[in-house]
Amino acid sequence: MNRIVFKEEIAPNTFRYKVHHPQIAKKRQAGQFVILRIHEGGERIPLTIVDSDPEAGTITLIFQAVGHSTRELAELEVDESILDLAGPLGKPTHIENYGTACVLGGGYGTAPVLPIAAALRDAGNRLIGIVGARSRELVILEEELRALCDRLEVATDDGSYGHQGFVTDVLQSLLEEGVKIDFVLAVGPAPMMRAVSELTRGYGIKTMVSLNPIMVDGTGMCGGCRVEVGGETKFACVDGPEFDGHLVNFDLLMKRQATYRDEEQAAAERESHCKLDSAM
Ligand code: NAD
Ligand code: FES
Repeated sequence: MNRIVFKEEIAPNTFRYKVHHPQIAKKRQAGQFVILRIHEGGERIPLTIVDSDPEAGTITLIFQAVGHSTRELAELEVDESILDLAGPLGKPTHIENYGTACVLGGGYGTAPVLPIAAALRDAGNRLIGIVGARSRELVILEEELRALCDRLEVATDDGSYGHQGFVTDVLQSLLEEGVKIDFVLAVGPAPMMRAVSELTRGYGIKTMVSLNPIMVDGTGMCGGCRVEVGGETKFACVDGPEFDGHLVNFDLLMKRQATYRDEEQAAAERESHCKLDSAM
């Protein structure tokens, strides 16, 4: 159990793992996540379950090695095991046939979009996908989303691939062209989800966003993941992670996401000094 059976670097520093966990593979639904720990006393890492294979008993996780703990996770190899893996956690995505659904993924936030896109497609929606990244090599899951979507657009900030600009620029063009969109789902950095929500508000399009605040226990006990939605406090781990983007207090979310930024930076600096010392 918890054994890594497959590992692939799908973009610089971004990894796809398949992990053996038959119970989670059987139970998980679109929108749910796991919390894992690599070793005793290690940080808890929440990761969306991107896919599962109930027959093989595996789940697929995609993450970017951005902080101390995800860098440690990226050092694990096939046949090594993750210490513990709790899940499936969070509410499954509410899925219905809206008509035309548009899913937007920003950077490695594109990973949680994939299972939701598949579920929306299975429910009979016409599907438009918009994927954005800073540059071409950071675009992930393009092929997988192209296979699910009736139309897929790619945007890069530097114009190295697809449209030049943000995913919101592409969405705005579609809306200005008069493309009918009945539902939007956006996952990515908080400024992106806020910008998408501000744009769709003017068109009255129902918009859901998947929030990624700091999480600790994942069971609604610690309060670490609290967010404000419609003026009420919600816990992303049990009440979400998806919420109505028009009601989310993004300023508060971003403030809370930055809480441990100094500690993360200090840990990164310590690691790079250790690497330099051991190289000398
Ligand atoms: P990034 O900063 O490179 O941005 C990716 C894309 O998002 C950009 O190319 C652009 O198209 C869009 N974007 C960014 N800022 C924007 C803005 N102000 N307005 C409009 N569009 C904007 O992303 P990254 O470094 O790959 O980080 C991915 C983010 O996704 C992280 O913040 C991560 O926490 C989040 N994420 C969320 C979940 C979740 O379940 N909610 C899961 C994984 C990742
Ligand atoms: Fe502790 Fe959500 S992570 S309440």
